[in-house]
Formats: sequence, structure tokens, C-alpha cells
Amino acid sequence: MKKKILINNVKDNPKNLDVITIKVVDVDGVFYEIKSLVCLEQNLMELLKEIEFPMGHCGGMALCASCHCFLESNMLNNNMSSAEEDMLDQLYNYDPSKSRLICQIPVSKELDGILLKIVGG
Ligand code: FES
Repeated sequence: MKKKILINNVKDNPKNLDVITIKVVDVDGVFYEIKSLVCLEQNLMELLKEIEFPMGHCGGMALCASCHCFLESNMLNNNMSSAEEDMLDQLYNYDPSKSRLICQIPVSKELDGILLKIVGG
């Protein structure tokens, strides 16, 4: 991995929400460690897009695969929708054991400590 970049998205926390750490390797091999508040109304693609990751071309509709990633740790309990499965199925780099569209994953406590590698589609 080329370098490590720390991003702390937790400025203030008046509601005392849980803080999670998400580890991301981008397509260039740069490693990021991101601290964020849990926010179930937000999906992980929206969070990464806010901090300038180039993804989300379809607005999180599971139609573009710009947010395709490999989950390198932590299996998630949230099930794939048929729209996500259909999109992944069309990708040349689809890996059934670890591919996900991160626009389909809410920013939940379950993500704490997760490692994902962005691979695109
Ligand atoms: S943002 Fe388009 S598929 Fe996730």
C-alpha cells in the first residue's frame, strides 16, 4: 500500500452517537482510515463521496458499479437486494465471495473495523 491517510469525520457529537472506523484501499492502492459517526440514513457510498472518493455516478441506485468493492474483512448481515445482485452479476471483476456495492450498505455500527478495497466495475 502506498500511504496511509487518516480522515476524521467526527467534528462534534452532541447526540453521543457511536463512532466507527472504516478502512478503505482505493483503486491506486492508497490506504485510508476514516472515523465517522453511525448514520443509518446515509449509505457508505455517500460518506465516501463526501470526502472526495470518485464514485456514486448513479446516485446510489445500484446501476453504475462505481462503488463496487471487495469486502476484505467482516461479513455484513445486510442482505443484497436483487438490484445489487443483478448489477454485480454483470461485472467482469465480480467475486461472489466478497463483492458488494457500497451504495447499498448503510453506515451502521456493524461497519466498525471493516476493510474494503474499491475495485470499480
Ligand atoms: S453508486 Fe452506482 S452502483 Fe453504487
